[in-house]
Order: sequence, then C-alpha cells, then structure tokens
Amino acid sequence: MPQKKESFCVLVLAAGKGTRMHSRTPKVLQTLLDKPLIHYLLAAVENAEVENVAVMLGFCGEKVEEWLGTTYKNVDVLWQREQLGTGHAVKLAQSWWKEYKNILILPGDTPLITASTLKLFLEQHIASDNKCSFLSFDTLEPTGYGRVIRFGDKVKVVEEKDATDLQRQCHEVNSGMYAFNTEFLFKVIDKLTCKNAQKEYYLPDVLTLIQENNGKVDAIKTTDSNEFLGVNDPTQLAEATLIMRNRILKKWMLAGVRFMDPSTTWIGPDVKLGNDIVLEPNVQLWGSTTIGSGSRIGSFTVLNNVQIGDNVSIIGSTRINNSYVRDNSTIGPYAFIREGTELMDNVHVGRFVEIKNSHVSKGTKIPHLSYIGDSEIGENTNIGAGTITANYDGEKKNGTIIGNNCFIGSDTIFIAPIKVGNNAMTAAGSTITKDVPEGSLAISRGKQRIIEEWYARKKKQYGGK
Ligand code: UD1
Ligand code: CA
Repeated sequence: MPQKKESFCVLVLAAGKGTRMHSRTPKVLQTLLDKPLIHYLLAAVENAEVENVAVMLGFCGEKVEEWLGTTYKNVDVLWQREQLGTGHAVKLAQSWWKEYKNILILPGDTPLITASTLKLFLEQHIASDNKCSFLSFDTLEPTGYGRVIRFGDKVKVVEEKDATDLQRQCHEVNSGMYAFNTEFLFKVIDKLTCKNAQKEYYLPDVLTLIQENNGKVDAIKTTDSNEFLGVNDPTQLAEATLIMRNRILKKWMLAGVRFMDPSTTWIGPDVKLGNDIVLEPNVQLWGSTTIGSGSRIGSFTVLNNVQIGDNVSIIGSTRINNSYVRDNSTIGPYAFIREGTELMDNVHVGRFVEIKNSHVSKGTKIPHLSYIGDSEIGENTNIGAGTITANYDGEKKNGTIIGNNCFIGSDTIFIAPIKVGNNAMTAAGSTITKDVPEGSLAISRGKQRIIEEWYARKKKQYGGK
C-alpha cells in the first residue's frame, strides 16, 4: 500500500553565532565551494517536496536575510534575537509551525544532507506513527555531538557537556534533524527548561517530554555519517568542502566528463558540462559556468560565470570572468578575459592578451600581447602583437570600433573613441588618433633615418676597440 502523503513545513535553525568559526561572518554564510553554507541545505530541502520553509535568524541575521532575499525569496524569515538554545529557537517559532501538521527541523550548518535522505526520513516518520523521529548515526568521532541513549523502548539525547564518562563512550549520535507531529511538539515545547551544563534550552529534551506524554519517539539510525557532518569550525568546513567537491566531480565523471587529475580540479555546484569534455589538471570552474561538448580546458585555467561553446580549446593558464566564448574558438595560454566580453565562433585569442567588455566577431585573431577594452571588432580581422586600445582618458572609458577584414599592424595604439572601417589597415607602431576610413591604410610613426658609418664614427670618437 502506498503511504498517504503528508505535508511538512521545515524550520532551519540558523540563529547561532558559530563561535568556533572565529569569524565576523555568520556561520551559515561561510562559503563552501562558491556558495554560502546554507545554500546546500536549502537546495536539498527544496528538492524534498516540502510545503513551506522558514529560517530562524539571529546573529548577523540581516546579512543572511539579505542573501535569502536574492536567492531563496520564498523562504520565511523568523527571528531569535537572543540565542538561548535550539529548543528556545523552536519555541519562538511556534506560531509559525503550529499551522502545519508535521514539521521537519534542521540545523543550518549541515550542508551535506541530500534530498533523497530527507524524503526517505519523512516517509519513515509517517509510516512509523512516531510523534518524533530523529536521524542518528554511528561515528568513530562522536566528540561534540549529543549522544543517543537507548533504554528499553525509550530514547534520549545527552549533550556532550552533560554526559557522564560512560555516556560519552556511546558512538551513536544525534544528527540534529527531527520530524515532529506539531500537535505533540506544541504540547511540550513550553515545558523545556535550561537546567543543564550550558544553561540553554535544548531541543533534544523535548524527546523525553513527548515520551512522558505517551508519544512514540524513535531514532532512525543511518550509516552514512557524511551527510550529517555539522560545520562548527574551519576544519569541518574544509572537510565538508572536500566531500561536496568530490560529489560534484563524481557526478560529472559519471556523465562522461574526463578529468586528467580529479584531485586538483574544482567545480562549483551550479556549473554545467556537456559531453566529450577534457579537463586538464588544476582547472577551476565556478559560478554559472557552462561548457559545450568537445571542449578542452587546459591546466591552471579558472573560469567564473563563463559560457563556453562547443569544441573550444582553452590552452591553459587562462582566466575568464563573466563572458561568452562561442564555438570552435582557441584561447591562451596566459589570456585574461574580463567581464562583459563576447568572443564569437572561430576566434583566436593567444598569449598574454587581456580583453575587457568587448565583442570580437567570428574568425578574428588576437594572437599576442594585446589589451582590448570597450571595443567592437568585426569579422576575420587580425590584431597584431602588442596592439592597445587606450580606452581611458583619465575620466571616462571610450570605445574602439574596428571593422571586418582589417589588418592591424603590431604595436598599434588606438586612442579611443575611435573607429576603423572595413578592410582598413594600420601600419605597425602607429598611434591612431583619428578615424580610419574603410579600405585605407593609416600610418602614424616617426620616419626612419639611417646614419651611415655610425659604428666607425663612435669608435674614432672614444678610441675604443
Ligand atoms: C546540536 C544538538 C546535538 C546534535 C548536534 C548535531 C542541541 C542542544 N544539540 O548541537 O544533540 O548532536 O546539534 O549537529 O540541540 N541555533 C539557533 N539558536 C540557538 C542555538 C543554535 O538557531 O539558540 C542553531 C545554530 O545556528 C545551528 C543549529 O541551531 O545552526 C545547531 O546549533 P549548534 O550550536 O551548532 O548545536 P550543536 O552544539 O552542534
Ligand atoms: Ca552544530
């Protein structure tokens, strides 16, 4: 018989300071890969098909609220101005959750939990007829966690600081994730006290109160403790980062992406990759970067919010931010392509080239040592080595427009704003201060003089050999 589907609201506890992080940033906004810690939990919750989500904020909560407003607009924000413990946080939220039949309570600092585990947990909770179920796991390093103490058909959680030596040896610990029948939770939540080692209202104490009211409570023990890793200090943040990173790499490997050295590759959670991609060692892909099929990303390349087309070759040691690279282009090594750039099909950008906020049309080549800023370059144009668009006049940025099929001689300096027509040429070493009409050659450089017998004259003058 399929289980009747029951609805859940979710309360995420994120008011704590995260003292052990020693940081001015609230713990849930610490970055894991390139996103705040709490993003991962909220993404899992979103995929677990729950009804409504609220986050309890406190320490530096305004910063968290601001971030939620940009990314998770549907999440309700609740406030715990003074953090008197996890039980206190849940108590303050009661007018929010008592409207729902069931509540899932999650700590904000457990980024590794997956939607499938949450879904399974909620199904088990409903099937068991428990008034409270919570997830527990066995660990060889129980330090810091509440210990799960089972006695007869009852269960309780004893916090590390309140535990006896014997209790501390227990290896089954509380994940901090609970499902409650709200009616029972409502009955007991006001009875919590803070008579304990930390003088806090402990949420796990409601388990005992529910059992005293003849409600069934059970710890659902799972084996994979990775998912419950709580981030309390920088070592745990590094540990969680590594696990999340490996999950992402594995996902892409199984989708066919070839990693020459997965141990040095970093990929953010929002990156999307096509087929037949090869990533050389030490590649970093961040933000909303996407890479099309058949592309190869060379060593020490860092891409941040970059849309890469099909069959693109980034030769290596290249950095690209907030830009587009269309199909069949080749870039690098040592290119720096900055925000607002669009390189169309079959473009070649070579060694030590910097491009910013520019559009480079198909078939154009910028092979060596150039700076192209605020420019529009037409099709099949060749930009000689050392070309510079002098786009800044000390006050504002000015644009350079170069047409199709142009040949820009090496070491040309364009004093922007300036326009070069189609099929135009500039002579190497020219400083171009006036527009260059279509089909013409612009040359602007000192005339060369030859002084003959120079060597012999110098030798005579100074008497050297
Ligand atoms: C808690 C549990 C412990 C469990 C562990 C799992 C309690 C008393 N203990 O301990 O049994 O093994 O999680 O990781 O619950 N928070 C608030 N308001 C507060 C206090 C905390 O919102 O007043 C939030 C924190 O921001 C955090 C979460 O609740 O996201 C857990 O708090 P934390 O202090 O990390 O609890 P632990 O000591 O880890
Ligand atoms: Ca914790």
